[in-house]
Amino acid sequence: MRGSALKALLASGLAAVVALAVCGGPARAEPGPAPYLDPRLPVGDRVRDLLGRMSLDDKLGQMTQPERRYVTPEDVTRYRLGAVLSSGGSAPSPNTPPGWADMYDGYQRGALASPLRVPIVYGVDAVHGHNTVPGATIFPHNIGLGASRDPELVRRIGAATAEELAGTGVNWDFAPCVCVARDDRWGRTYESFGEVPELPSMMTTLVDGLQGGPASVLATAKHFVADGGTAGGEDRGDARITEPELRAVHLPPFREAVRRGVGSVMVSYSSWNGLKMHQNRYLITDVLKGELGFKGFVVSDYNGIDRIDDKPGFTEDEVVAAVNAGIDMVMVPTEWRRFIDYLRDAVNSGRVPMSRVDDANRRILTKKFELGLFEHPLADRSYMRTVGSAAHRALARQAVAKSQVVLKNENNALPLDDDDKVFVAGRSANDIGMQSGGWTITWQGGPGPITKGTTILDGIRQVAQTPDNITYERDGAGVDGSYDAAIAVVGEKPYAEYHGDRPDGLRLDPDDVKTIERLRAADIPLIVVLVSGRPLDVADRLPGWDALVAAWLPGTEGAGVADVLYGETAPTGRLPVTWMRDSGQEPINKGDGKAPLFPFGHGLDY
Ligand code: BGC
Ligand code: BGC
Repeated sequence: MRGSALKALLASGLAAVVALAVCGGPARAEPGPAPYLDPRLPVGDRVRDLLGRMSLDDKLGQMTQPERRYVTPEDVTRYRLGAVLSSGGSAPSPNTPPGWADMYDGYQRGALASPLRVPIVYGVDAVHGHNTVPGATIFPHNIGLGASRDPELVRRIGAATAEELAGTGVNWDFAPCVCVARDDRWGRTYESFGEVPELPSMMTTLVDGLQGGPASVLATAKHFVADGGTAGGEDRGDARITEPELRAVHLPPFREAVRRGVGSVMVSYSSWNGLKMHQNRYLITDVLKGELGFKGFVVSDYNGIDRIDDKPGFTEDEVVAAVNAGIDMVMVPTEWRRFIDYLRDAVNSGRVPMSRVDDANRRILTKKFELGLFEHPLADRSYMRTVGSAAHRALARQAVAKSQVVLKNENNALPLDDDDKVFVAGRSANDIGMQSGGWTITWQGGPGPITKGTTILDGIRQVAQTPDNITYERDGAGVDGSYDAAIAVVGEKPYAEYHGDRPDGLRLDPDDVKTIERLRAADIPLIVVLVSGRPLDVADRLPGWDALVAAWLPGTEGAGVADVLYGETAPTGRLPVTWMRDSGQEPINKGDGKAPLFPFGHGLDY
């Protein structure tokens, strides 16, 4: 037992018993704390004891996760709620680490004020660092980490993220997305470590990092299953694939996450051959919990139960379908009271068996005990100083450098020399928001100085060591033949989820094309750095470029891009996805016989 756990136990009443025993007081000591509060007992015993004390309403509350804007600490007490979440960009005011810790502690105190004092878990989408908090370290999005091929690096990123979360109280991360992105037109391609199952499987080390360190938070493998396999790359669409394909391509990363003990799994909004995953009992209960042996709890996606019948809002039928399919906790941001009422009715009428409710509670409570929440319910503010710390930023910079993929490099355009006179241009060159992408401060992310960090331009100035040799003009105006090289940093504007779907193709932005053309007219070596969540259609323009680097969405540490441009770090990144010749080839993937512009695994060295 940890020292602090012992202290908590003593404080909770054992002290009286011990004191009486030691002093040889009255024969009958005061009763000690309930067994479930005794950290010396095995988790299974504690769960059994607690479950035996819970009313139906206690159990319904545990299965319910409202969004912070629609719930108060008093509601948590009264309805014995099991969890609260911040959806994308949903932050306390002030949006600072202490603001988060205070908010979290407020909800947690609400939970501790209920008769059984069952702590909540608080979930956020920390999908590339603690990304809703200004000043937190923003790591590269998963697609870049997939390019690094470095699972140990990813484990360390998980551990760093867990520390930043812990300092603000947050104890549940809706990450990693272990999706296998098969069609790059999908708006969530950047959340994927790659298009083959081996990459997301390998990077489930993120789960070890999040859960396994001294600062330990619950991880979530999402979205179960085949979210990246939908027809046309449509977000929340339909994966029209056979079961052997589903098992060969989309299931393996979940198997690996389960093997590593991932605490929760989130169900996908998408369907499999027309059936919504949120009602797929075969895949959730038989395959995930049965065959894969998943012992944690299954959470629905945000309002995910609403979509089972394709009509807005949810009905009792949808609640029944979802819970009986095997969903244990329901992310029901606003209408959570109605959810509880429907579920109560369904249990009372026998439509949802009590055994199902008990199983869900057993799974949720097991994770809460394992996390040590009954002993340490409040935010551990000693980790607050790690938010955006120099050590985490250094790790992120290293991750950025390792994720750069040099796709083309002619006439030794790269690496640059420290004393080269360089002209830098492009919408993404000097913009923290652009280089961070979606899920940064807000759900969609956005251009501009949205948080603290080093832009790619700042990074170039730092790494070049002769900052006076670097000229920057966003649109490329003023470039001429007197420079040794020009760098165009261009790509995609931030987006998240279906907002990023591009069924009509992945063409370059017209402003970016103009900038590139302006630089090209100067007739000096031209290096294009693409800041994007996925491959873009560049084949027809590529002959006019000397070098092309895929920087993906690096996050706040833009110096990592410069490290590779200047050869401070040798390029080792390899494509985690196949780069299409034109987006009409989508879906295009390793081994499908199509002729890409750059194959999966491509990446040059110098
Ligand atoms: C997304 C999930 C996310 C959840 C909570 C959903 O829209 O699909 O990935 O975890 O929202 O923000
Ligand atoms: C939330 C996201 C969520 C989405 C689902 C948004 O309002 O901010 O977190 O994923 O809704 O539709």
